[in-house]
Amino acid sequence: MRLLHIVANPSPLEYAVDRHLANAFVDALCTRAPDAAVDTVDLYDDPPPYLDGPTLRYFWQRVGQPDYEPSEIEREASAYARRHCALVRTASVIALTAPMWNASMPAILKSWIDQVICPGETYRFGDDGPEGTHAIERICVFTTSGAAYTAGEPRDCFTNLVRSAFGFIGIDRVDVVWADGQNRAIYADHDARRERAMAAAAALAADVAG
Ligand SMILES: Cc1cc2nc3c(=O)[nH]c(=O)nc-3n(C[C@H](O)[C@H](O)[C@H](O)COP(=O)(O)O)c2cc1C
Repeated sequence: MRLLHIVANPSPLEYAVDRHLANAFVDALCTRAPDAAVDTVDLYDDPPPYLDGPTLRYFWQRVGQPDYEPSEIEREASAYARRHCALVRTASVIALTAPMWNASMPAILKSWIDQVICPGETYRFGDDGPEGTHAIERICVFTTSGAAYTAGEPRDCFTNLVRSAFGFIGIDRVDVVWADGQNRAIYADHDARRERAMAAAAALAADVAG
């Protein structure tokens, strides 16, 4: 098993509940599956660019025109996407760690998703539509929010987006560990909510380890 762990939270570990959830998951996973390899990418150390015109041309011109010769500018612009798509292709599980911001994921994580759901790199167009060209079996999301949520409800534009975007390239298994209700001023049971999520992270590790 190879886990690609994408972290999208600028807060340090001592303040970031989602990082604690993810660490509990990774620690439990590595205990249960000592052969597991973990690649961790902190997006604030390796930030994705916005998907731009030269990058789009690099990947999409090849879809209808396999012998397309990209320009040097297109090659350079697409370097991040190619590097991160290669990471995705070597992984069997992806973990996404990020807080809920403005009803969705931090923009830096959306930018990363825009870079790695990429024709010719992580999917191709087959006779019946898009087909994944990766070995990802499942995605595990570790998140936290100030308000109380139910994953999948209409205002949850985070995990619904993950399911929809990665479903497009054939990844339908998305597990969510979510410490909601972390606003201390509103939810007296915020600690209990966090502890439940920590237990859920460990249980998910047991399931992923098999
Ligand atoms: C910019 C920003 C936007 C936020 N938007 C939301 C939101 O839409 N819904 C919500 O429930 N909490 C929201 N919050 C609260 C955070 O999700 C909450 O504090 C969370 O526990 C932070 O996660 P962390 O401890 O892992 O950094 C927001 C916080 C910030 C800083």
